[in-house]
Amino acid sequence: MPKPRRPRRPLRVLVTAGPTREPIDPVRYLSNESSGRMGFAIAHAARRAGHSVTLVAGPVALATPPGVRRVDVVTALEMRRATLAAFPHADVLYMAAAVSDWRPRRRLPGKWRAKDKGSSTATLALVRNPDILAACGRHPSRPGKLLVGFALETSSGIPRARAKLRSKGADFIVLNSERALNSPRASALILGGDGSVRRLTNRTKSHIADALIDLLGHP
Ligand code: CTP
Repeated sequence: MPKPRRPRRPLRVLVTAGPTREPIDPVRYLSNESSGRMGFAIAHAARRAGHSVTLVAGPVALATPPGVRRVDVVTALEMRRATLAAFPHADVLYMAAAVSDWRPRRRLPGKWRAKDKGSSTATLALVRNPDILAACGRHPSRPGKLLVGFALETSSGIPRARAKLRSKGADFIVLNSERALNSPRASALILGGDGSVRRLTNRTKSHIADALIDLLGHP
């Protein structure tokens, strides 16, 4: 694999990675299967290419790539706060985190005792989490930055991914299949707002990360 070339102008790269965790009570939460590997691989590749990197990480069991500034968060609201704090100072955002779309309406102070009522069903009220990528897409400091979003589609998802590209104001969307979750290898389609399509089949996440860093060009 060719080593990424060192750019003449190091960029400030912001990466989000991993799942978010949305607490139900002190011992339970809603989350997803994201391992954070893709985002960590992007942060590592960006650093290797000579950029300065901030990595906003949800709860994952991964070591911080050397030279990367890491901000740990748990919930989507914490991720939003950390990402929007760093975004104005970034040239590029790779929004690789698997942000929970929903969070419980309230975090119970004690354990959720729904079964104590003898019922065999229970209902958990959820509220929608804010869309962090879309917030960056319409942020006043957005002009001149590159925004790369990710989409996970279980069936042929190109039209849905293209719709996300537009609705979230991103420049690229990286379309993964659910087989990428928690796996060292993945296939991905890199869809550009200009209609471009680049297909990467069964590659390591490190290879996909290098391809994503190549989107920054070599000015
Ligand atoms: N995203 C975000 N904030 C959210 C939800 C998603 O910033 N509250 C970002 C993700 O990090 C990703 C992109 O938006 O870069 C697409 O995520 P999403 O809309 O959740 O798409 P999918 O993962 O494909 O899931 P879904 O099936 O819910 O559409």
